[in-house]
Amino acid sequence: MTGGRGLVYTGSMAVHDMEATARALVGPGKGILAADESLPTIQKRLNAVEVAATEENRRAYRQLLFLTPELAEFISGIILFDETLSQKTDHGVPFPEAITRAGMIPGIKVDLGAKPLAGFPGEKITEGLDGLRERLAEYSRLGARFAKWRAVIAITDGAPTRFCLEANAHALARYAALCQEAGLVPIVEPEVLMDGAHPIERHQEVTEQAQQCVFEALFAQRVNLRAMLLKPNMVLSGKDCPRQAGVAEVAIATFRCLQTTVPAAVPGVVFLSGGQDDIRATEHLQALSRFVPAPWELSFSFGRALQDRALRIWRGKAANVAAARQALYHRASCNAAARNGIYSDSMDSSGKTF
Ligand code: 13P
Repeated sequence: MTGGRGLVYTGSMAVHDMEATARALVGPGKGILAADESLPTIQKRLNAVEVAATEENRRAYRQLLFLTPELAEFISGIILFDETLSQKTDHGVPFPEAITRAGMIPGIKVDLGAKPLAGFPGEKITEGLDGLRERLAEYSRLGARFAKWRAVIAITDGAPTRFCLEANAHALARYAALCQEAGLVPIVEPEVLMDGAHPIERHQEVTEQAQQCVFEALFAQRVNLRAMLLKPNMVLSGKDCPRQAGVAEVAIATFRCLQTTVPAAVPGVVFLSGGQDDIRATEHLQALSRFVPAPWELSFSFGRALQDRALRIWRGKAANVAAARQALYHRASCNAAARNGIYSDSMDSSGKTF
């Protein structure tokens, strides 16, 4: 309690619990399921499989995911959206409780989305700090044990600017500090998008700058690095780049970035999938396992790369729920295997791929 950096909360039970939660989220062979799509995003996903985005369909889809039998073998925690945190299973069990009973940790996305950054055409700033302290108290009361905030960084000829990187890093650090004050583990997500024709070297350069800004801000704002997780993008070639980097190249570029920017006190790095093909995302994770043991656990917090096949099988039909759950379970098992460096193509060869 000297007021020195990071000592403000040291030693309290809440800190001990947050550090234990952060470590549990990256426990051996497990990763996080991101199911925190905002209303416009879940609408897009459901409409893509011709399901109307009603509140009941959103609930039914999330129930399908969360109640997948034995999902906790490979999934440590699930990130929910605001609406979902207060929804219930068919049997009237609140989702956070159902997830906890199944052996997983419920979390919550708390940002309010990336909005245009005034004065910086094409760049974005994530909003949601006003009233966040009060919302976090409510989320904690509803059972959330960790939180997520996503900053979105686009690469174009003139972007990102230093100002955009710093503004987003500042907001991420303010969010992270508020989470820890409320006893929730912050997942800090600076996503550098893969949209564009840039080569992998440019993605690496920007990802490194973005992560550097984030850790400078976290340090300045006295965030306890032991009680948080970083959720970065993998370093990739731009989606429209004529030369697509291979799997090993992606793993090396991604690891070099982390090595340069992420302090060893951070317990884990949980990658987003960012619109990559799901099997390719697993292959990248597998290739990253060659760097294990690293200073931090290397794991996943995938949305689309875990859910896409399950969603396409479900298509809103109760009769497809069991098959959709099998597909989710399978992708989770492949990613868990990749973390351990034991994924192989044969796990996804025909007959087993859903
Ligand atoms: P994707 O894995 O689909 O990128 O989603 C992860 C996420 O939580 C994005 O904020």
